[in-house]
Amino acid sequence: MKNLTYAQIRQAYLDFFRKRDHAVIAGTGLVPEDDPTVLYVPAGMFPLVPYLLGEQHPEGTRLVNSQRCIRTVDIDTVGDAQHLTAFEMLGNWSLNDYFKEEAIEMTVSFYVEELGIPIDRIYASVFAGDDDAPIDDESIQAWKKVFAKYGIDAKVGQDERIYTYSKEENWWELPAGGPCGPDSEIFYDTGKEKCSDQCGPACDCGKYAEIGNNVFMQYQKEIGADGQVSYKPLGRHNVDFGGGLDRLAMISQGKDSVWETDINLPFFSKIQEMTRDSELTPDEQIRSQRIITDHLKASAWIIADGVIPSNKERGYILRRLIRRAIRHINRLGGSHQEIISEVVPIIIQQFAPFHPKLQENKASILDTMTQEAGKFDKAMTKGLQHFNKVMEKQPKEISGEEAFYLYETYGFPVEVVTELAQERGIQVDLDGFEKAQQAHKDLSRTASAGLFKGGLADDSVESRRLHTATHLLLAALRKHIGEHIYQKGSNITPERLRFDFPNDKKLTPEQLRTVEQQVNEWIKADLPISSEEVSKEEALQRVPFAAFDDKYGNVVKLYKIGEGGDTASVEICRGPHAKSTGELGHFKIVKQENVGAGVKRIKAILEPRK
Ligand code: ALA
Repeated sequence: MKNLTYAQIRQAYLDFFRKRDHAVIAGTGLVPEDDPTVLYVPAGMFPLVPYLLGEQHPEGTRLVNSQRCIRTVDIDTVGDAQHLTAFEMLGNWSLNDYFKEEAIEMTVSFYVEELGIPIDRIYASVFAGDDDAPIDDESIQAWKKVFAKYGIDAKVGQDERIYTYSKEENWWELPAGGPCGPDSEIFYDTGKEKCSDQCGPACDCGKYAEIGNNVFMQYQKEIGADGQVSYKPLGRHNVDFGGGLDRLAMISQGKDSVWETDINLPFFSKIQEMTRDSELTPDEQIRSQRIITDHLKASAWIIADGVIPSNKERGYILRRLIRRAIRHINRLGGSHQEIISEVVPIIIQQFAPFHPKLQENKASILDTMTQEAGKFDKAMTKGLQHFNKVMEKQPKEISGEEAFYLYETYGFPVEVVTELAQERGIQVDLDGFEKAQQAHKDLSRTASAGLFKGGLADDSVESRRLHTATHLLLAALRKHIGEHIYQKGSNITPERLRFDFPNDKKLTPEQLRTVEQQVNEWIKADLPISSEEVSKEEALQRVPFAAFDDKYGNVVKLYKIGEGGDTASVEICRGPHAKSTGELGHFKIVKQENVGAGVKRIKAILEPRK
């Protein structure tokens, strides 16, 4: 085996295929251009889809490159020795040019002759055939021929050189359809013991590392209006090869994981140094360290390509990566500020020779990450307190609603909730989470249609808190100023609440202070908030001051803040609200105004607790 650096393998691959008449083409950015079907480029073939379908490529019918990719489907496996979210994929393509025999021959030649991988360590898998497509006999013959070239009599079957598998292992397609077909993977035997008699290349115990995949794109996947999937002959024979550069570096350099290669080790080892003192088991610790390393690297690449964290789609993937990294840093007792400021520049330095944008956008990468981490860090402390409270009740599983609450209120991505639960040996109801999220979306639509009482314009965490604060404000006004007060109008933005109520005179500064203090006392008491559905009659009995509105039906919701003798407020309302008043922070009245005859207006905000 030759001991080659990441950069040397990259170059050797491009040179090898250039000598075999492939044009070296530039990789694209991570954000797909003009294609809404994926959020990030997941494979080297993605930018080439039009050419795989038949369009003429200006550089010819044989192409090669190294393409940066982001793959989040494998995110749960990140932390093991071989999976990464952000990686470079070496790729070579035949656009209706060479086919199976030549493709497999070139792949094996490159691995054996250029990288020096011993042929004894190489195994293959091919498609076993099903109703959509027959067994890939042509690939089996191609493998036999290439093994024979190196003196190996390769056979098909368990404990032989060539394995056959179903679509799950040996078929490649994009979820949205398009060019696809059977594939044939190449594996490296790491020399570890088999985990069982059935262990083979498809087993993920770590004995075999998948180091390349030749996809034979001779079909076109179509999804009908009824969702029915069909495979039609493409009328072309393309080859799409992809191989992860990190894994090749791992093997070439004789390392146990992709994180210990020349390209990744400088920042991985820095993270290890900065998170050394954790009390976790060594296995748990290294898993967390790898997740931090992977997610910071992926985030740096993504931000370099112009994405910023947000709550939607592409930006939300970035947000989740940063937040999960921060959670793991926190788990290991590290400082996210220090890790970001010391580690991210090393990531940039390592990859800038291949992706100059990293260096150009260094300041914004650091700023964006620091800001996002800071935001989450505060919420995370509170969220963890809430999570621990939930755990005290010894649940058998975390309900979907609870998981959604952690997501909504504290910004915990669902995989973070899942991990926290798993670390304590319980599961999360993920279906329930999806349902809660869907219900929330429906609610948001209602909200944006302006249907919430009091014109709640959105139902972000901030709005929920302010909404709850509005109920407390009304209760405090009724308690300290007079029972003639009711809600004449209300408007909430994520920044402030605005509340109109009847009163002849403006409140004195003294009165305002009393009201403010009362609301803050209720907040400090961390009163629970509950709701129940009751008939219209009962609601009016219990909330006589309600300005009943025709928009409420016969069954209405009552929101109660506090319990029993500590009940601060009961109101008719559709919600949504905070879960308990403790979430509100500190209530502050910022303004009082006169609005029309006998009507006063208070504007108030919530600040972080002092
Ligand atoms: N497109 C193929 C893959 O990603 C090569 O595995």
